[in-house]
Amino acid sequence: MCGIICYVGKEDVVPILLNGLQMLEYRGYDSAGIAVRTTNENNCNEITLLKKKGRLSELSSQKEITEIKGTMGIAHTRWATHGEPNDVNAHPHADCTNKIAIIHNGIIENYSALKKILEEEGHTFCSQTDSEVLAHLVEKFYTGDLKEAVKKTLNLVEGTFGLAAICADNDEIIIARRGSPIVIGLGKDFTIAASDATALLNHTRRVIYLQDDELAILKEGSCTIEDFAGEKKDNNIEEIKWSVEQVEKKGYKHFMLKEIMEQPLAIENCLRGRIKNGKIKLTLNLDLKSIKKITIVACGTSWHSGLIGKYIIEAMTKIPVEVDYASEFRYRDPLVNEDNLIIAISQSGETADTLAALREAKKKGAKTLGIINVVGSTIAREVDSGIYLHAGPEIGVASTKAFTTQLTALLLFSLYVKQELGEELDDELVETLLELPSSIKTVLDCRDAVKEIAKHFIASKNFLFLGRDVNFPVALEGALKLKEISYIHAEGYPAAEMKHGPIALIDSEMPVLFIATKCLLSDKILSNIQEVKARGGKTIAIINEEDNEIERFIDYKIIVPHTLKELSPIINVIPLQFLAYFVADLKGLDVDKPRNLAKSVTVE
Ligand code: F6R
Repeated sequence: MCGIICYVGKEDVVPILLNGLQMLEYRGYDSAGIAVRTTNENNCNEITLLKKKGRLSELSSQKEITEIKGTMGIAHTRWATHGEPNDVNAHPHADCTNKIAIIHNGIIENYSALKKILEEEGHTFCSQTDSEVLAHLVEKFYTGDLKEAVKKTLNLVEGTFGLAAICADNDEIIIARRGSPIVIGLGKDFTIAASDATALLNHTRRVIYLQDDELAILKEGSCTIEDFAGEKKDNNIEEIKWSVEQVEKKGYKHFMLKEIMEQPLAIENCLRGRIKNGKIKLTLNLDLKSIKKITIVACGTSWHSGLIGKYIIEAMTKIPVEVDYASEFRYRDPLVNEDNLIIAISQSGETADTLAALREAKKKGAKTLGIINVVGSTIAREVDSGIYLHAGPEIGVASTKAFTTQLTALLLFSLYVKQELGEELDDELVETLLELPSSIKTVLDCRDAVKEIAKHFIASKNFLFLGRDVNFPVALEGALKLKEISYIHAEGYPAAEMKHGPIALIDSEMPVLFIATKCLLSDKILSNIQEVKARGGKTIAIINEEDNEIERFIDYKIIVPHTLKELSPIINVIPLQFLAYFVADLKGLDVDKPRNLAKSVTVE
């Protein structure tokens, strides 16, 4: 949530910052700004600040931006938490002397108290943000040593931060982290840092992931890390493996479409090296025999994959599984102990609620496992053991390939536990799992057919998605995808629940999508379709083949290949991703950056 980028080196900094912001814009896009250390006509250093409400293009198209010259600066793209999106509330924020500028991700919980004290001391505030207190606190404590001033500031604040500060008098950038990720990139004669490694890829692959309660002093070509008590830390340098190409659109109109189309490869990468001679190869540092209960914690789409995980893990391993919204789990004093395994599922590995739920479970002695996409993310670092998705960077705000790879990873995990508990694996399931990438290529062929169907629903106000068993959470996911990018109100239900309420909504204005692929409950789903048709509802069904019986009652069909029940959610969700995508695109909406949303939710 919010993107930050900073650079100190020899190059003209503005293009570097703007390029970085472009890579980070998916994290927040209600306003953007930069602060650069410049030299005025009297040869004095000063901070030049420019910020604008709206998309990054508003900032980058300002005439003044071409006049800003310097080799050190910080920049930010915002997703508002405190204070409406406008020019003043945009970051960076400066102090009263205009010598200090800061950018901040996260939330300063005690900002009102701090602001009151600072105002009494004579500081004048311009914005309604919580972040501005940081600029004034650094000003208050600054006596020539920026690092010390930042440290004293951070001793006073409560909440979360990924912070960068510069001062006109210093040639260094101070960054600090508690709860909001920051990655530092190292170059020969420059140092760069950002809230997300993707923004560094054009410059370097040698990175250091700053840890919570650490700060770093960035100078031209050097980086020193210490904790808030001043103790020096080692520079643990890692190499980023993602290519720049992987994070670009590759000719697709949107990242979301590119990421939907990438699913065969993403799943292939997720499976790579993890199945050999019919056996599951995972390196999990867990005593599986001692696990009496599994609790899955996650948010949004990742929570939906957790729900499917419950069906699959329970059926395969007979270990009871609970699935909790991470935001609820963290505050309800959950019944968790050393005999429990907590699985945190997260694409970003940075979601604040999921991280807090994980920490809560660890405090209670539970074993922990992460199913995470972003390598080196906070959750990935804090779990006892993990399974990386290897889906590659997911930039579109609506999660697609992360969902299908999460389901793949959950299947691998279930099979692995079963195997390690001494049970025989179902060979057909293992074989079919290996063939999944090629089955998905076939499903992607439904793209044009779904686009045609989408044209009929761009004016819809509501939508119902119904499915059963492992495909009930797929209905939830279809509804979430549609509402988040097309702004059509949508609900997902287990099909049999329709008669307990939602059926009252059915009329000719209510499209209902059924996941009606072959399963044990197919007959019951057919009855539900008839019930909707009898009430004049518009029906769409995902089916496996021409099926005269179902087709009598549906207006539109989407045919997908038949597969085993355990794998069917991965196949069936793809037409739903396309449906949401095409409805939103045909409505002319900004698919990759839907309103009010951000890719990585690092605030509560
Ligand atoms: C929906 C979506 C969100 C995320 C949720 C959790 O398309 O992307 O619902 O799934 O914010 O994010 P992660 O998986 O990064 O923890």
